[in-house]
Amino acid sequence: MQLKLQTIICSTRPGRAGPAIARWFNEFASRHGKFETSLVDLADVKLPIYDEPHHPRLQQYEKAHTQEWSASVAAADAYVFVIPEYNFGPPPSFVNALNYVYKEWNYKPCGFVSYGGVSGGLRSVQLAKQLVTTLKMMPMVESVAAPMFSQLLDEDGHFRSNPLIDDSAQQMLDELFKWAQALKPLHTAAA
Ligand SMILES: Cc1cc2nc3c(=O)[nH]c(=O)nc-3n(C[C@H](O)[C@H](O)[C@H](O)COP(=O)(O)O)c2cc1C
Repeated sequence: MQLKLQTIICSTRPGRAGPAIARWFNEFASRHGKFETSLVDLADVKLPIYDEPHHPRLQQYEKAHTQEWSASVAAADAYVFVIPEYNFGPPPSFVNALNYVYKEWNYKPCGFVSYGGVSGGLRSVQLAKQLVTTLKMMPMVESVAAPMFSQLLDEDGHFRSNPLIDDSAQQMLDELFKWAQALKPLHTAAA
């Protein structure tokens, strides 16, 4: 059975760039061929600011949105977060979505596709890595960054990568696959 990779669109605001970049990456990951790929959009998930009474570790979810999010996160073996930089950090929609569940993230690898101005979202990724390790995720060293990303959107709003970005996506996926294989027994046993 193929390992399942979810590409998660982390921004939720109207007019966001996230979906264009995430669609490109999801197609790239499909062509990579090692994973069964799917796209998850936090704007569709519509999580309110964390509103469960119990610690997520207990999995005593009272809200339907949490139960649905739990099932969605649990279904994957690996994640790639397509993440912008808001004030040098990750967007609150990402932090909130992480907080909602705990065990569902445990012992799984994750990568980042970041975008922004000159930084390419790298400052956001550095902080995001610290958060995901608390959830026992393994962040990849290899990462995809798109500086000045708006110059890579064509007139139809499609993201047009370049050889440097393609190369980093390939390397990150190769690494993610190794970790996903290695961690599969661990997160299966813990589930
Ligand atoms: C609240 C906010 C803060 C931002 N802060 C940064 C920043 O620190 N660094 C950066 O490169 N771009 C920053 N930007 C510009 C974003 O890179 C740009 O708006 C991008 O489109 C955001 O991703 P999104 O369209 O998927 O929401 C910020 C944008 C917003 C809305």
